[in-house]
Amino acid sequence: MTITAADLSQFTYNPIFVETGTHYGGGVKRAESVGFAEIHSAEVLEKQYEYCKERFRGVDHVHLYFGDSATMLIDMLAQIKVPATIMLDAHCGGVADIAHDNVAATEYNPLPIMAELSVLANDPIKTHTIIIDDRRLFTKEDETAWHHVTEQDIYDALDAINPEYQIHYLNAAPASCLTIDDRVSDIIVAIPPGVKW
Ligand SMILES: C[S@@+](CC[C@H](N)C(=O)[O-])C[C@H]1O[C@@H](n2cnc3c(N)ncnc32)[C@H](O)[C@@H]1O
Repeated sequence: MTITAADLSQFTYNPIFVETGTHYGGGVKRAESVGFAEIHSAEVLEKQYEYCKERFRGVDHVHLYFGDSATMLIDMLAQIKVPATIMLDAHCGGVADIAHDNVAATEYNPLPIMAELSVLANDPIKTHTIIIDDRRLFTKEDETAWHHVTEQDIYDALDAINPEYQIHYLNAAPASCLTIDDRVSDIIVAIPPGVKW
C-alpha cells in the first residue's frame, strides 16, 4: 500500500527521490518530511497531477511530471547524475480512478512496472536504490491488472539492471484496507552493492 516515513528515511543516503504514480501527493509529502533534497514524481491522470501542482505550488525542490511513467522516467533520469532512491508505485488504482478522471484504461499503460524497469536498465547509473510497492498483488487477477507480471519477472528485471543488487523486504504502512498478512514484506527493495543497510 505504501512505505512508512520511518522506513523511507533509511534511504536518504541518496539526496534525490524519484516516484512514479504521484496520486494525490502522499508519497511526495512523505519524501519531503524525511528530508530528500530533491523530489521528482510523475502521474498520468490529469486531475491528480493538477491537484498536486496546486498542493506543491511554490515548493522549489518538488518537480511534478504529467504523462506515462516510463516515458516520464526517461525525462526525470536525464536530469539526475547521481544515484537516486526510486519508488516505483505507478499502477491503476482500479475502475474508481479511471471513472473519476474520465480516462479510458486503454489510453495509458495501467501497469507500467516492466516498462519502468526497462528504462532503468538503459540508464547509465546502475546503483539507484529501487523500491517496488504492492508485492502482494503480483499475479493476482483483480481490477488493478497485476496479473500480467509475476514476481520472478521483477527479480529478472532487477538482475538485468545490476546482478549485484541485494533484495530486501519491508512491511507496508498500516491501512484500513490491508490485513496484517497483506502488509508483511509487501515492499521489495533493491539495494546496490556498497551500501550498508
Ligand atoms: C498507488 S497510487 C500511488 C500512490 C502514491 N505514490 C502515494 O504514495 O500516495 C498509483 C498511481 O499511479 C498512477 N498511474 C497508473 N498508471 C500510470 C502510468 N502508466 N503512468 C503514470 N502514473 C500512473 C495512478 O493514476 C495512481 O495515481
